[in-house]
Amino acid sequence: MKKTILTGLRPTGNLHLGHYFGTGKNWCAIQDDYDFYLEIADVQALTDHFDHPEKVRENVFEIAKDLLAIGIDPNKVHIFIQSQIPEIAELTVFYGNLVTLSRLERNPTVKTEIAQKKHLFGNEGESITYGFLGYPVSQAADITAFGGEVVPVGDDQLPLLEQCREIVRKFNSIYGDILIEPQQLLSKTSRIKGLDGNDKMGKSLGNAIYLVDSEEVITQKIMNAVTDPNKIRKDDPANPDVCMVYYYHQLVNQEENCQRICSECKKGERGCVQCKKELIDAMNQFLKPIQEKRKFYEDHPDEVERILKEGTSCAKEKAKETVHRVKEAMKINYE
Ligand code: TRP
Repeated sequence: MKKTILTGLRPTGNLHLGHYFGTGKNWCAIQDDYDFYLEIADVQALTDHFDHPEKVRENVFEIAKDLLAIGIDPNKVHIFIQSQIPEIAELTVFYGNLVTLSRLERNPTVKTEIAQKKHLFGNEGESITYGFLGYPVSQAADITAFGGEVVPVGDDQLPLLEQCREIVRKFNSIYGDILIEPQQLLSKTSRIKGLDGNDKMGKSLGNAIYLVDSEEVITQKIMNAVTDPNKIRKDDPANPDVCMVYYYHQLVNQEENCQRICSECKKGERGCVQCKKELIDAMNQFLKPIQEKRKFYEDHPDEVERILKEGTSCAKEKAKETVHRVKEAMKINYE
């Protein structure tokens, strides 16, 4: 019997290289080994985008196409839409009794996000909504609804997983052994640096390369990438370890090319402009098959809808079973 895996992502924009190298690539690599549920978390996206529902909706389909393009196989993975499974919302309500407000307020992931979203929640987080503060509870429902035993996530999500485990333990201690306590599966590289040298590639940081970026956009972004600031002239020796162009060569270029680039750079035998041009070529080569695959789904939106419907209906079956057992345990089964 394969173990059950559950992971999710918020549909707030297209996938970028940070998503791909941080998590997506790993999801593709393990999709044969697990019974895999992949949630497009539109309800969670609404917790901080409730005033832009049209964007969230559009991004559900964007994300679905991105996932299929990177090689998530819908015959192996149930890709589903969170909002279409009301059982998750039901569990969220039940779990609400098992977690204190102060525990949610102390959650490091939530704290960081509140600090990042001052425009929404105020300078001191004084306008924080009930929905946003409670999204870790809803995420615990996401995981447990499908009996997720393993959750592959980046390290920024660990406090949410811990919150989920606490809820599971509390539930099981009161109502009986019903829920499964999930384990994390940390990806080896959970964070990719941005083109500007920032430790994280992110949409809000404006330093990302998207899987859907055109050749012109990629050229312009890479031409502006940060290189060794101490290299002034073309033939100055430089330090590739502080250069974002070299960093990306290592992600998308072949090993032997990288070795050559590194030694030429250190010896001052390589100008940054040439190096950037080579990276642009390597990046386009890398993205080409992904974009070709994506094009198929762009041309066949019905196929994307069919995949999401099938994934969602499968996921719903599983969530229904869980809710049935949960309600029985909580003595609120009246059928
Ligand atoms: N919180 C995750 C993120 O922001 C998305 C997510 C929703 C998730 N539900 C999940 C991740 C369940 C793992 C398990 O990326």
